[in-house]
Amino acid sequence: METIELAGRAVNRIGYGAMQLEKVDRAAATSLLHRAIELGVNHIDTASFYGDAVVNEHLRAALAPYRDDLVIVSKVGARRVDAPVPLALAQQPHELRAQVHRDLTTLGLEQVAVVNLRRADQGPGLIASGNEIVPIDDQLAELIALRDEGLIGAIGLSNVSVSQIEHALPVGLVCVQNAYGLLDRTHEDELDLCAAHDIAWVPYFPLGSAFAQIPSPTEHPVVRRIAASHEVTPAAIALAWLLAHSNHIAPIPGTRSISHLEENLSATAVALTPEDLTALDALSRTS
Ligand SMILES: NC(=O)c1ccc[n+]([C@@H]2O[C@H](COP(=O)([O-])OP(=O)(O)OC[C@H]3O[C@@H](n4cnc5c(N)ncnc54)[C@H](OP(=O)(O)O)[C@@H]3O)[C@@H](O)[C@H]2O)c1
Repeated sequence: METIELAGRAVNRIGYGAMQLEKVDRAAATSLLHRAIELGVNHIDTASFYGDAVVNEHLRAALAPYRDDLVIVSKVGARRVDAPVPLALAQQPHELRAQVHRDLTTLGLEQVAVVNLRRADQGPGLIASGNEIVPIDDQLAELIALRDEGLIGAIGLSNVSVSQIEHALPVGLVCVQNAYGLLDRTHEDELDLCAAHDIAWVPYFPLGSAFAQIPSPTEHPVVRRIAASHEVTPAAIALAWLLAHSNHIAPIPGTRSISHLEENLSATAVALTPEDLTALDALSRTS
């Protein structure tokens, strides 16, 4: 399988986003994670606020002691609450530090390989207001301190703009995680900037998410027609387009289904034709 560099390690181009595992029990999560590793997944994305650390605990139960080649990436900037929505912002530097400690405890790690600072200046999701708005420099200073202490291995950003990425370049970013996919290329400029600086672009919602209001590329008729012509699933086509679009893209599709996981990993074997790429390129929404 083709690889991409992430935090100094070569990881397979297609990783696994573990957020959907908050909806399944330990046995189902364990089966899925074992199959993911068997299929060559060595980049897993998580957060302590996925199911109030339930997802981290699934990962630990299924995969610890962790293989040396496995890169577990977490994110900070939110916390789990009960209502009115399951997440609240937790952007203050001391809250970021507490979340890293929670990752370490619940994952059973001495160091989190990569931690993404999830900003909340724009959607999707919660947008910071009032005293929830924290200067990015204060947050980066805390993450740099955590990296100096060896508690995190590397720093990434999530949900950020071109100017925020440019501002943070001296920190030595290893990845940027924004919403991006075949049908939503709003953040094409951010992708281009990351590619120019050899920073991995890790799109979340690569399959349009589990939210009904976000269009899914797997339902699009053009994607379905191309999938039929290659005798693969629409998800494989949507992910193959990401792999072909830039060699800096490392998607983390999420699923709680082993058959979907297998379909998603099969995208690395799809060779899109120039005609396929022209048709797929024409589908995007850019703002
Ligand atoms: N940085 C951030 O702010 C942020 C925000 C959100 C998510 N993330 C990360 O990004 C990862 C990916 O995002 P996501 O899971 O929300 O969205 P996604 O990967 O775009 O889509 C997940 C949805 O697609 C379905 N799906 C997966 N494989 C499929 C297939 N082969 N065919 C048909 N449907 C399929 C899943 O259903 P099934 O479970 O039934 O397969 C689920 O409903 C998350 O797991 C998380 O790690 C980061």
